[in-house]
Amino acid sequence: MKKILVTGGCGYIGAHTILDLIENGFEPICVDNNSRSTPVLLEGIRKLTDKQVKNYKVDLCIFDDTHAIFQENPEIEGIIHFAAYKAVGESVKEPLLYFENNLISLINILKCVKEFEVPYFIFSSSCTVYGNPDQIPVTETTPTKPAESPYGSTKQMGEQIVSDVTKGAFTQSILLRYFNPVGAHPSSMIGEIPLGKPENLVPAITQTAIGKLPQLKVYGNDYPTRDGSCVRDYIHVCDIAHAHTLALQYLLDQKNNKRCEVFNLGTGNGVTVLEAIHAFEKVSRVKLNYVIAPRRPGDVVAVYADNALAKKELGWNPSFTLEDMMASAWKWELKLKDDEILHNNPNFQMN
Ligand code: WQD
Repeated sequence: MKKILVTGGCGYIGAHTILDLIENGFEPICVDNNSRSTPVLLEGIRKLTDKQVKNYKVDLCIFDDTHAIFQENPEIEGIIHFAAYKAVGESVKEPLLYFENNLISLINILKCVKEFEVPYFIFSSSCTVYGNPDQIPVTETTPTKPAESPYGSTKQMGEQIVSDVTKGAFTQSILLRYFNPVGAHPSSMIGEIPLGKPENLVPAITQTAIGKLPQLKVYGNDYPTRDGSCVRDYIHVCDIAHAHTLALQYLLDQKNNKRCEVFNLGTGNGVTVLEAIHAFEKVSRVKLNYVIAPRRPGDVVAVYADNALAKKELGWNPSFTLEDMMASAWKWELKLKDDEILHNNPNFQMN
């Protein structure tokens, strides 16, 4: 089985991707410093697949520790690089934390990719690279505008670094621009585990609904959109995960036309914050306690994907509906509430 290094593999998208890789015959190796995650999701993967994923607790900002993983696993055939901080609001407050963590870890990994001649590299990018786009939906050739947050800047810089390194090296790469990953695996064995108060909308919705948060704040209803709240392209995390497996196979089959290619991973549907809330209320039958609050600095007004390229080239077909996303997110939140493992985990104090 082909060994694939998954950085940030204990995280939300990383864990779902590890599961999809296993289900498609790959052997993932996880590396994660657990600064924003816990290995508990690997336990969920073991229960689903009976596979114990090899896991390195390493900070990729430390080159020697990163290098040691490659020395120990010279047969790594591909890398999927998720490891990064990703909260837009936090990055506005802590820009240097984001530049240091997200860029140094990437550079260290790429130094090892070059030294060990790893053939394939998939980079976890984001729709935030588009900034506030002039026209939507955005295609992969829509000009990127200045990022609205330091998080978005680290993704723009990260794409440039990967693209430039790929031009001069043995490795071929793909940049995957996620829109808003939400939901959880239908089994509820893995899902999102926010550390502390969630920054992102859907975990904030489910934690409000279950009573972990007193009230949801809707950050602004005075935007130039159909109901005044921001528009996003919510995409089920399992659809995102499977796109990584398809992208890897696309490279392994040498179907790529260029050494570094970009793909949008979104449903193509723009959904407002208020519409997302109403979809949640419909599937959960819970009336959500929310209030309109001031706009959040760094927020983009509206962005959603033209996903035709990923569908055509990768054979990707996102299948989960907004209701599926909300239902799986709610089922996972209910599971968290009842899950002894997490409650006993001293590293994770649920707020
Ligand atoms: C969505 C909307 C908020 C919380 C995320 C990830 C980023 C990237 C893109 C993958 C905004 C509103 C939120 C709340 C709210 N993903 N909101 N109340 O900012 O689009 O970015 O997706 O790479 O990593 O962070 O997602 O969920 O934070 O916000 O009203 O309590 O929900 O203002 O309009 P965002 P988000």
